Amino acid sequence: MSGHPVLEPMLEMARRALENAHAPYSRFRVGACVRAASGRLYAGCNVENSAYPVGQCAEATAIGAMVCAGDRRIAEVLVLTEGTALCSPCGRCRQQLAEFAAPDALVHLCGPEGLRLTITLGELLPFGFGPDTLGCPDIMPGAPPHP
Ligand code: THU
Repeated sequence: MSGHPVLEPMLEMARRALENAHAPYSRFRVGACVRAASGRLYAGCNVENSAYPVGQCAEATAIGAMVCAGDRRIAEVLVLTEGTALCSPCGRCRQQLAEFAAPDALVHLCGPEGLRLTITLGELLPFGFGPDTLGCPDIMPGAPPHP
């Protein structure tokens, strides 16, 4: 990914995750990587299920790995898919990311050739429902309130 050396470790982790995707139904493999505020990277792949609605997106798998390891703050996100179409996080993933990432967090959308588009989470999920809506603005110490 020439020109984006900082993303290369995230892309590599997403590549490896994508290789392990369990997507026998859609044949649409996805890899994701989140960089926590601690600097640690967490990868995930989509995990489909024969009961289709039970399937899990790659972003959710990566978020689960992050939370399980004790990190709580997402600084940056990368999503990797194989086709030619730009793949943006689904609505559910946007909400799940917003639980742990600020609106200015960067979301990098990638394909086999590398980076396709960088967008912020706030652009993907404007006027999002968040912890502050419930009167719980302090669950992320140091985090700015959602707009
Ligand atoms: N998928 C993801 O993993 N992340 C997204 O943001 C969009 C969709 C997965 C879910 C399903 O396994 C496959 O892609 C096709 O929808």
